[in-house]
Amino acid sequence: MSLSVHRLRCTGCGVRIDGAQVQSNFRCVECGDLFEVEYAWSEGAVWPEGLAERGTVYRPNPIALKHLWQERKSSTLAVDQSGVWRFRELLPIVREERVVTLREGDTPLYEMPRVANSLGLNWLLAKHQGMNPTGSFKDTGMTAALSVAVSRGFTWVACASTGNTSAAMAAYAARAGLRSLVLIPEGKIAWGKLSQSMDYGATTVQLKTDFDGCVKVLSEIVKRAPVYLLNSVNPYRLEGQKTPAFEILEQLEWQVPHHLIVPGGNLANSSALGKGFMEMKHLGFIKRVPKISVIQAEGANPLYRWLQNGGEGQLQPVKAETRASAIRIGNPASWKKAAKVLAETGGWVEQVSEREIALAKAEIGAEGIGCEPASAVTLAGLKKLVADGRVGQEETAVLLLTGHTLKDSEYTIHFHRGDLLTTEELAGQTVAERAAFSRLQREPLVLDADVDVVLRALEKEAGQPV
Ligand code: F0G
Repeated sequence: MSLSVHRLRCTGCGVRIDGAQVQSNFRCVECGDLFEVEYAWSEGAVWPEGLAERGTVYRPNPIALKHLWQERKSSTLAVDQSGVWRFRELLPIVREERVVTLREGDTPLYEMPRVANSLGLNWLLAKHQGMNPTGSFKDTGMTAALSVAVSRGFTWVACASTGNTSAAMAAYAARAGLRSLVLIPEGKIAWGKLSQSMDYGATTVQLKTDFDGCVKVLSEIVKRAPVYLLNSVNPYRLEGQKTPAFEILEQLEWQVPHHLIVPGGNLANSSALGKGFMEMKHLGFIKRVPKISVIQAEGANPLYRWLQNGGEGQLQPVKAETRASAIRIGNPASWKKAAKVLAETGGWVEQVSEREIALAKAEIGAEGIGCEPASAVTLAGLKKLVADGRVGQEETAVLLLTGHTLKDSEYTIHFHRGDLLTTEELAGQTVAERAAFSRLQREPLVLDADVDVVLRALEKEAGQPV
């Protein structure tokens, strides 16, 4: 991988700059918008003379690359064992020796037969990004952006987070021997995630504000201190996060699924996956892209509202509230990029209620897969897309599960004990919903340590003598 075959292009005004010239808050000096990474082979790339020649020397060849990427799976090199860097020809942003990897990516694509059956779909798949080293999709982006931090000589990295970015950043910083600063909203992230950032040795600061407030504070800090910002405004994060698109295609033998359903928080992941699929199409790996749909929680739905209001002008931030704490975000940084992906792929935005999220999460758990609440919005949203025919029976849909079920075990325990929802929410349940909840709830039984007592409980569960 050579270092300078990429540049940063502003997604607002189109200005192009050298990667090393970008401001510490990753905003364009001209218009304040976000950048994306551009290569000489990118669609619409404009390169100055000389640089262009260097860049165009390399034109990705789909047939050769498909073979090479497969072959690397049996290599013993760390960069080959990573499901991100295995695809390094399409993200040449750092030199190989600078790569910081925990062997992320290469996550499973599971079938979901029971859920598919209940929705009347022939085939439903879940790409489980929770099976990454720190238990979320953030690892794929973190390996990319943190490697850039190393190559730029930073000793401190920082992020504001709802918990998963901070866990990933802390782990990768520890691997690289960098110091890391985590800003999280006090009392609003899941314990599993908080414990991770402490375990990996980050300086963990709980601020008395929400995620959006943490972002504000950090944007000022990076202006005043030599700290490298690893939030998803950092375009290198998205280069790593686009690689699951390549994996999905590989895992489906280069058949393009009809739909990809992604949870929406800060809206970087949907943007990254869109970039990945569109690059695959542009380079001739595939002929069409899946429709990428974004699902938001009802209480944290600024993109949904923006589109409902006609999708014109600026997005209005909301005061976010949802139990899916990973996506409790009211002012998403990457909303314009995500809106572009929706428009270019023909996908939709949906919002789902707390009750719908809880049920969907239990259904994913009952498939033996499990995920954290924010990931379950995908299934809750898919139900709506199926109900009104936007997703058809014959079509292949892939749910992007972003976090592992152990990330937020408290939520899961509350669901199964029956004390997750408020009295008001319970009162709003339909009869069918109530039945589905009680069919899935598995409250732990507390019994005497007596064989007969346990056997009786088993008979009661089985509904017959055992
Ligand atoms: N799912 C999970 C599990 C997440 O942690 C996040 C974001 C998302 C979905 C949404 O992705 O922001 O790219 O739209 N978590 C961030 C964090 C914000 O700090 O961990 P997005």
